[in-house]
Amino acid sequence: MIKPDAVRAGDSGLILDQIIRSGFEIKALKLVQLSQKEAEAFYAVHCERPFYGSLVEFMTSGPVVAAILEKENAVEAYRTLIGSTNPENAAEGTIRKRFASSIQNNAVHGSDSDENAEIECSFFFNHFERV
Ligand code: CMP
Repeated sequence: MIKPDAVRAGDSGLILDQIIRSGFEIKALKLVQLSQKEAEAFYAVHCERPFYGSLVEFMTSGPVVAAILEKENAVEAYRTLIGSTNPENAAEGTIRKRFASSIQNNAVHGSDSDENAEIECSFFFNHFERV
């Protein structure tokens, strides 16, 4: 997912370009505005964290670009490509180093396991929208 900060900044194209050039195949793609309930549900695992309310507010502050990406070992490969959650700790050349501004406004989201990837893919896309 490309988050509202990066969509607002006009960085969606550059981010998708970096993802494609890194060998990922796009299997689904859409621009969507999350409602408060949807953002709360997507990040429900973080509901006890102090930043949850602010995160939900941020994630509903504008549209996001949701995508399903395919590659060998995709979860790990994508997490390497995007870099650390906090852009201050992200490696040079990673998407978060290039485009993120803070630990919350960190430009992109990536699933943290194959199991969560399936859940998150189904959150955004029905079977007609996936190739
Ligand atoms: P993401 O990879 O989408 O997973 C959870 C999100 O919560 C994370 O990116 C950040 O946007 C946000 N987040 C994680 N840790 C913090 C923090 N310490 N303060 C504020 N936001 C955070």
